[in-house]
Amino acid sequence: MKQDMIVILDLGSTENTTLARQIRDMGVYSEIHPHDITATELKALENVKGIILNGGENRVVDGQPVDVRGELYTCGYPILSIDHPGAKCEKQLKAFPEEAALREFVFTDCKAQANWNMKNFIADQVELVRRQVGDKKVLLALSGGVDSSVVAALLLKAIGQQLVCVHVNHGLMRKNESESVVEVFQNQLHANLIYVDATERFLGKLAGVSDPEQKRKIIGGEFIHVFEEEARKLKGIDFLGQGTIYPDIIESGTKTAKMVKSHHNVGGLPEDLQFELVEPLKQLFKDEVRACGVELGLPASMVYRQPFPGPGLGVRCLGAITRDRLEAVRESDAILREEFARAGLDKKVWQYFTVVPDFRSVGMKNHARVFEYMVIIRAINTVDAMTASIEKVDWEVLEKITNRILAEVEHVNRVCYDMSPKPPATIEFE
Ligand code: XMP
Repeated sequence: MKQDMIVILDLGSTENTTLARQIRDMGVYSEIHPHDITATELKALENVKGIILNGGENRVVDGQPVDVRGELYTCGYPILSIDHPGAKCEKQLKAFPEEAALREFVFTDCKAQANWNMKNFIADQVELVRRQVGDKKVLLALSGGVDSSVVAALLLKAIGQQLVCVHVNHGLMRKNESESVVEVFQNQLHANLIYVDATERFLGKLAGVSDPEQKRKIIGGEFIHVFEEEARKLKGIDFLGQGTIYPDIIESGTKTAKMVKSHHNVGGLPEDLQFELVEPLKQLFKDEVRACGVELGLPASMVYRQPFPGPGLGVRCLGAITRDRLEAVRESDAILREEFARAGLDKKVWQYFTVVPDFRSVGMKNHARVFEYMVIIRAINTVDAMTASIEKVDWEVLEKITNRILAEVEHVNRVCYDMSPKPPATIEFE
């Protein structure tokens, strides 16, 4: 590793990630580790320049104050203790440090170099991936989301044609989304990409299913089946690439930072399909993942795309999915995105999409009575998706979108705007 590192040991703070971010923003790499790390484990993390004992409101567990192992106090690293009364070192801070105090510790006491940047990160990861993989092959489920796309680009740089990407189109992708995955990765970056159009298979399994959780289960389960079938066809694959990122592996706000296994992996693969994982982004925060994607040359539309649920448009075509309503969701979503981009709202609004409920209302078209579907527009802002407020979209923009949807999308005669914050409403409808 080329980059100097400050290690944060979690002694019950809820602000570990804030601290790690603050240090990374100073240009110095920082990682969070559990409080009971041994001196040997610490030394094995190359280039550690100092450690921060980060105490806080959860520092007492079962009546006992949490502390680091005694050997850490004598293993030679500069130590900064924050809100940890039991610390056996000098210079103790009672509260979260001011920027200046933190800088002094990082640059004066630890003598860390500000050499954390994406170029160095990518160079390091390329080297580590090559070391891990050797001349073997890596399989990657490439959904086209930010994380899997950036992993694909990074692995491609590291191991080229030893990477095999599989893109499963479940038929619930947004307009032109699968096409753009193929265009970027196959045609422009010349990746080894297997494209599987499983639309019929997914829609067949989903026919008549209206329960949201059941729909999610079917989509997730079927995805694993399709992916597994492709994996079995390929010979000599030893590794599975994954877009695990830092928030997936840190459980912040707990008694001590426990490393938890990634939840959003292609878990559930059968026992006899055992792969070793390659997770080159596992130390990055989301905005760093995007910066990494930009540095690797991925298009902005791919790197800065808004969050999109794994089950795709399946949870926006409410109730039992039908092809006409699915198309109405896809087409209206495309119009919404186009008009939001035109109005500059795509850079401002966190998430925006359309949904189509499974009931119809009466209307008039060409002087005749029609009984058709409704499109609901939702546009929200949030920091962490736990709570959300609605975007107060300009009436004129909304009117333009409405008129276009009514004119261009089949089977739709009504457009509504969802005014509900989260809570009580969730962001998605299902
Ligand atoms: P809710 O609807 O719970 O959504 O307020 C919060 C955020 O999570 C996204 N979301 C999902 N993402 N699989 C995903 O990968 C899912 O099943 C799923 N459901 C919701 C949602 O788009 C929003 O950003």
